[in-house]
Amino acid sequence: MNQPPVRSDMEESLVLNAILDSSGKKIFLKDLQSITGLERGIIKRCIENLRESGIDIDGRGGFSIDNLPDIVNTPVVLCGLKSRILGRNVFSYKRIGSTNETAQRLAESGAPEGTLVVADRQTRGRGRLGRKWHSPPGLGLYFSLVLRPIISLDLLPGLSLVAALSLCRVIERLDNLHPQIKWPNDCLIDSQKAAGILTEISAELDRIDYAVMGIGINVNHQKKDFPLNLRSRSTSLALKTGVRQNRAGFLREFLFEFEKDYHNFVRYGIRFMGRALVERSSVLNRRITVRFGRKKFTGTAIGFDQNGALRLKTKDGVTTVSAGEVTLRR
Ligand code: BTN
Repeated sequence: MNQPPVRSDMEESLVLNAILDSSGKKIFLKDLQSITGLERGIIKRCIENLRESGIDIDGRGGFSIDNLPDIVNTPVVLCGLKSRILGRNVFSYKRIGSTNETAQRLAESGAPEGTLVVADRQTRGRGRLGRKWHSPPGLGLYFSLVLRPIISLDLLPGLSLVAALSLCRVIERLDNLHPQIKWPNDCLIDSQKAAGILTEISAELDRIDYAVMGIGINVNHQKKDFPLNLRSRSTSLALKTGVRQNRAGFLREFLFEFEKDYHNFVRYGIRFMGRALVERSSVLNRRITVRFGRKKFTGTAIGFDQNGALRLKTKDGVTTVSAGEVTLRR
């Protein structure tokens, strides 16, 4: 496993930031020293490490970077990160079993709120209901956050909804896209799945010890990159915008957005979302079936309760469902 957040990651991120901030101009070692406050030897070592991680730093007559490659390692994630808590403690991997699995282990051993586990590729990516999450390298964002919300267990359905809302807000900024939230935790674009959320918790009676929120986003996938059985139902940000997206950039934006929404949620519950949730819901006013374990409810989705559970008007009256798998009906 990676070492806990290390000083060198912070230093590399400072150096990277300073070089990128020089807006295409060459920056000299002495400038890097005064901007970062780091010693020459440390800056040189940082530059070597950054190069080794795949960043092409030109060193002729000062340092410059023409193109930041699409990688999601720790210094790149930290570079320009605006959130204060989420993602400040990062564990990044080229390859991992499942970021949720690792984040759970970290949470068990006391990792603080906001700890982020991110990987370029997962070999045992987990989806909801025991499904797999196909996680090929270089294309998607696969990450998990350790959260320690002080909320009642009833509010849990709302937690994934908040993340789905933040995801939608970031996607909306990319282009003229209208992502939707498919309750309880999918993000769709034009009715095709672009992202999924898997929140796993450890709790005692009425207290959440920690929640691991795992998010998989289809970023730069082309149709051929999805397994055959998912192809017609899946999409990616690149397919919808027509351009490759920078994964670390998207992740930073999400962390910043979600941090605000998450704090509001912990303080005010889901009512802070106002109409934002309703406006983006793909299930409201639709006839749907929700399967939850052996139970099955069919009816019209008419709203959400104060915890984020779905209110369904069935032939037997109004019922509330706190989790489940939704099938939209005609
Ligand atoms: C779903 O079934 O829609 C939820 C998918 C969640 C996938 C993400 S990818 C990062 C994190 N690690 C996992 O193993 N799963 C989640």
